[in-house]
Amino acid sequence: MPPEARHIQNLALTGFMGTGKSSVGRLLADQLRFAFLDTDEEIERRTGKSIPAIFAHDGEAHFRDLERALVAELATLRHTVISTGGGLGANAENIARLKAHALVVCLWAAPDRIWERIRHQHHRPLLQDPDPLGKIRRLLKEREPVYRQADVLLNTELRCQREVAQQILHQFHAAQPRSR
Ligand code: S3P
Repeated sequence: MPPEARHIQNLALTGFMGTGKSSVGRLLADQLRFAFLDTDEEIERRTGKSIPAIFAHDGEAHFRDLERALVAELATLRHTVISTGGGLGANAENIARLKAHALVVCLWAAPDRIWERIRHQHHRPLLQDPDPLGKIRRLLKEREPVYRQADVLLNTELRCQREVAQQILHQFHAAQPRSR
């Protein structure tokens, strides 16, 4: 169903690690005067564990279950910008559930650009790999078909975060029924 025909209450940002979902999400929440929810932070808050600890002690499959359970709950939110962990938006069922109440915008960047942005950060368990750039390339290729199921795919490479937020605001307003 196209966004204009849905009851869009929220804005959800998906996309690979390092594409700016959390920073852009916070900017958007400020501009829209919406609440802000980051799914990784919410999972950490609820479990009392960091994402690396969940991966290390309970495994990735358990983390994905926590993500799915959280997504199911998000349907009750109103006026919220939701920033998602990079793997959440790579699951077709999660995307379909988010679309029931949110405009889903996927932030995009090429593997080299992503690596450039996150090479000095060390908190992502999936990138603790002897060849992180190779892993980014492989994961991005694998996830691309589902990332593309978002309502909007936005390339972040040539835009600063403020410009990315501006583009998303425009799309969000266009998706509201009154602008039909
Ligand atoms: C993951 C991305 C991370 C976090 C976890 C797994 C992924 O979130 O959810 O480390 O599978 O891409 P960010 O995209 O916020 O880094």
